[in-house]
Amino acid sequence: MLPASLVLVLASLLLAELAASPALAFDPPTYNATVWKAFAAKTLLTPFPELHTDPYEASPPINTTWPAVPVCAVVYPNEPDRSSYKLATFPTRAAAEAAPATFVTHLHPCGLCSTTQDLAVYMAKPDLTDPVRKCGLETAFDKKLALDCLLDIGFSKPCAQIWMYDAINSFKHCLEPCIKAWIEHTPNNVPPNSYNMNPCLACDQEKSGPVFGVVAARIRRDSGLRSSINRPPSSIANITHYYY
Ligand SMILES: *[C@@H]1O[C@H](CO)[C@@H](O)[C@H](O)[C@H]1NC(C)=O
Ligand SMILES: *[C@@H]1O[C@H](CO)[C@@H](O)[C@H](O)[C@H]1NC(C)=O
Ligand SMILES: *[C@@H]1O[C@H](CO)[C@@H](O)[C@H](O)[C@H]1NC(C)=O
Repeated sequence: MLPASLVLVLASLLLAELAASPALAFDPPTYNATVWKAFAAKTLLTPFPELHTDPYEASPPINTTWPAVPVCAVVYPNEPDRSSYKLATFPTRAAAEAAPATFVTHLHPCGLCSTTQDLAVYMAKPDLTDPVRKCGLETAFDKKLALDCLLDIGFSKPCAQIWMYDAINSFKHCLEPCIKAWIEHTPNNVPPNSYNMNPCLACDQEKSGPVFGVVAARIRRDSGLRSSINRPPSSIANITHYYY
């Protein structure tokens, strides 16, 4: 039988140990076809207008600083019928979670790729770098061709349009590192298991990422989804999508 004082000492050591251990990283689930097909089939009641001008050429330039807290949520106004939905930006995650029939779909305010159709594309295609790159190359020849290519991947039209402008911008600014990476088949991360992006992806993220972020709004990390580019686990938001 241990003396009570020793038990207390051991218990407090154990508690200190638990408190000091790093928070468990969020382990993003993968979603099966039942889930992503249900998301793809929903109707957005207030669709986004099409994007007819290049946001990379906007004057004055687009403010690419995110407001700190908002989240974008899917709202079902006719629960239990979930075939149609609205998107709404809430000032905080807690506010969204407290609202009825409301589910956080990604961090930051809603934008052109916040639709569940675009979420379904991200779920169904964990590796979009290759297909999107192929569409991006088509911008060199014809914008319409590139847009059709992105629509074939499954994106909503406004989301496909911001992907197209992203590709045009990257084509302008990142052609050299990207051609080199394609020819040499450089993996997304170099070295492969690091968080260091290859020079093409790094250029794309630097030159095209900020405007894409605020206009498209949905990116994988902020949606709690894994991608084919290694990212630090702490950068993937703790969000799951079981509200289909
Ligand atoms: C993620 O959020 C859920 C629900 O809010 C919580 O139970 C879980 O502990 C969180 N996971 C991590 C790794 O923070
Ligand atoms: C798909 O995933 C959902 C949610 O995790 C699960 O309830 C369902 O049983 C799965 N369906 C199939 C066919 O695996
Ligand atoms: C850009 O947006 C951020 C966040 O909403 C805001 O704090 C900042 O003042 C804006 N900057 C300009 C130049 O408008």
